[in-house]
Amino acid sequence: MAKVKLTVNGRAVSRDVPDTTLLSEFLREDLRLTGTHVGCDTSQCGACVVHVDGKAVKSCTMLAASASGGEVTTVEGLANGELHPMQKAFNDNHGLQCGFCTPGMIMSGVDMVNRYKQAGRELTEEAIRHELEGNICRCTGYHNIVKSIQDAATKM
Ligand code: FES
Ligand code: FES
Repeated sequence: MAKVKLTVNGRAVSRDVPDTTLLSEFLREDLRLTGTHVGCDTSQCGACVVHVDGKAVKSCTMLAASASGGEVTTVEGLANGELHPMQKAFNDNHGLQCGFCTPGMIMSGVDMVNRYKQAGRELTEEAIRHELEGNICRCTGYHNIVKSIQDAATKM
């Protein structure tokens, strides 16, 4: 067993879990934070993206024990009284259909906007499409997802 101590969405949590527990399992099954989705468990779909210490991570690729001591933000932790600009932009621009990929798209979108702003680089449509290659959507054709991220980038 491994002792996992994390700050998740601003709340300190501590659990003893089997050594092999993935961060995605820990969030969904131990903490019941089911906004983080699992579409493949093989690091392909990006539905499980969360932020660990401020960086986007596919939570199915990381052991919960490896994240121990860190700060995790899930899609449930983004809204602060009102929707995060990225959430609002997905709503305003119809950036989702079934919604399965949406938590991962939103968490990847926030991470990419933050990274490009910190680096002083322009987040072009081409860059967004390139950055999204680790996030698969089966419904939207990506066009409105890209528009949503472009819209949010002007408001974050
Ligand atoms: S569930 Fe993690 S990448 Fe698909
Ligand atoms: S909105 Fe259905 S998978 Fe993306």
